Amino acid sequence: MTVRVPAKVNLQLAVGPVRPDGYHGVVTVYQAVSLYDEVTVRPAERTRIVVSGEDAASVPTGPTNLASKAVTALARATGQRARPAVQIEIRKRIPMAAGLAGGSADAAATLVACNELWRTGLTQQELCQIAARLGSDVPFALVGGTAVGRGRGELLTAALAAGSYHWALAFASGGLSTPEVYATCDRLRAARSVGEVPEPQLSGPLMAALRSGSPTAVGPELVNDLQPAAISLRPELRRALTAGRAHGAVGVMVSGSGPTCLFLAGDAAHARDLAVSLTGAGICRAVTVASGPVPGAAVVPVRESV
Ligand code: C5P
Repeated sequence: MTVRVPAKVNLQLAVGPVRPDGYHGVVTVYQAVSLYDEVTVRPAERTRIVVSGEDAASVPTGPTNLASKAVTALARATGQRARPAVQIEIRKRIPMAAGLAGGSADAAATLVACNELWRTGLTQQELCQIAARLGSDVPFALVGGTAVGRGRGELLTAALAAGSYHWALAFASGGLSTPEVYATCDRLRAARSVGEVPEPQLSGPLMAALRSGSPTAVGPELVNDLQPAAISLRPELRRALTAGRAHGAVGVMVSGSGPTCLFLAGDAAHARDLAVSLTGAGICRAVTVASGPVPGAAVVPVRESV
């Protein structure tokens, strides 16, 4: 059973105060983009994870991998007495710890794949409840499209959005730890003594721009409260963002907790031009193009053998 699952970007990431459980209240606008991992699960003697592709060597293959936790969580939720063993093969194109929710995507794909393999028949809503316990971004990887996330990001409502959006994605060398970026955000805010951090609010201008379907309207409304923290941990990101602006991106931002930088283009050809220019500028490890919104985790139909 093979499932294809997209990366996410946050068009808005508004971060509020720390909650009693240690998470930050957020309001975020997610968009799923056409950069995919593929996860195949098959029955096996013992559960094991095999990773290939982007960053394969640095992806944990033990029980700390979110995909492995997804298997356990689904088995428990569906009351399976003996935990059925599966081999999980993850083909990665989404880089690790990049602010693109790659690990969350793999967990979401594993939930969908095991739900099919075991014929447990849970609905997407039921899978979302299990997903929320695995991580804040896991439910969105199931749903895809464009959605507003509240709570710690896991409480989703569909967003009215028109058009499609073409991005150049600049990958940095190495990743950033999400908890460290959130903690740095808190430290920067304390140092600026901004007083009480307000509750996060959905951006009306961004939602209006999304309804218009115009990338040039959306570009100036992109906002990420974690960007200053990501830049303070990786100052070289500033150069990448400046280069994107100089090459005519209609919007630039750090993706989630970083360090991937996002450049919104006017159309597909512009995104390719941006990717070529940014590659030539030699300011990041690699650049790719992707477009959104795309659907969430979905079973790949069995390819007919020839
Ligand atoms: O939910 P997830 O496991 O992906 O979160 C990873 C870490 O990111 C959390 O342990 C927390 O430190 C931080 N986080 C946060 N507030 C959120 C989401 C994540 O502080 N809304």
